[in-house]
Amino acid sequence: MSSRMSFQVALNFEDGITRFIECRGDETVAEASYKARINIPLDCRDGACGTCKSLCETGSYDGGDYIDEALTDDEAAAGYCLPCQMTPHSDLVLRIPSSSAAAKTGAATHTATVAGLTRHSATTIEFTLDLDERDALDFLPGQYVNIAVPGTDQTRSYSFSSGPAQRQISFLVRIVDGGAMSGYLTGRARVGDRVEFTGPMGSFYLRDLTRPALLLAGGTGLAPLLSMLERMAQQPPAHPVHLLYGVTTDQDLVHLDTLEDYAKVIPGFSFDHCVADPASTARNKGFVTGLIDSSTLHDGDVDVYLCGPPAMVEAVRGHITALGVTPASFHHEKFTPATVREPRQTAEAA
Ligand code: FES
Repeated sequence: MSSRMSFQVALNFEDGITRFIECRGDETVAEASYKARINIPLDCRDGACGTCKSLCETGSYDGGDYIDEALTDDEAAAGYCLPCQMTPHSDLVLRIPSSSAAAKTGAATHTATVAGLTRHSATTIEFTLDLDERDALDFLPGQYVNIAVPGTDQTRSYSFSSGPAQRQISFLVRIVDGGAMSGYLTGRARVGDRVEFTGPMGSFYLRDLTRPALLLAGGTGLAPLLSMLERMAQQPPAHPVHLLYGVTTDQDLVHLDTLEDYAKVIPGFSFDHCVADPASTARNKGFVTGLIDSSTLHDGDVDVYLCGPPAMVEAVRGHITALGVTPASFHHEKFTPATVREPRQTAEAA
């Protein structure tokens, strides 16, 4: 590998904003950030003070030279690193201990054109965008953006249902009565409309899969998990991945064919679904908790990724606790239809 090779480093700030920079294998992350005019926390720049200490969530790197006062062996073993010293060996995802504003940066704005509208069912619609500058947008699978609803002064948050490498980007929307985006998509929206959004944001994104994973989707919470599956189709996981998809009525079930397709191309990927409505024709009726036992959780040796309404997040958390199993990690994204999502931290190490 040439040290001149360049890698992508995602800098995740405490306010949920993510910026991406290019970093060569022979420069430190701090140098690359400086070139990108992003002021990550720095003081000594010499591996002595620990001010820049960050958590590396994915990727490999050379930690460089530093003293124990700046970074202990235990911290280094837990994934902490010093951006003023580290040089990348691969793409990296770092959690930076400051807000984006403190680093004199912020969410990027992107403009796009509506390229497609797909009405999956009475309750669910998907829209696709062509970006004016596709190469200017990077995101991690699972992240979301804030979209200005055309013709209104409202903004709504949606997770990408497309993968980071796909040219077109797409979003899955549950239609709610009186919802700003619902009203637009079911009424005025036309192919060719102009759309603006900011992002990417959020800490609900796929980490390196170093153990089995359990993906849990409630309704249109399937979107970020589809984005993660698209990434896995490109970079096959070395461990089994199981997805459980729960919805309220049969009409809410979308993308089962997409999941079937992923089950054919992603090694070790399987899925199941359930519908809460007793009148459903689905094989499993009830909630996803009915499909989770200690073997689904690999007795704790599992990374859990859950995107769904707040009640589902709490129900799953309570169910897992009642089973007496502690997952290695539990990442979740709560959403409520038609609300603006505040960027925040959602990852919890168990
Ligand atoms: Fe002092 Fe990195 S800035 S250790």
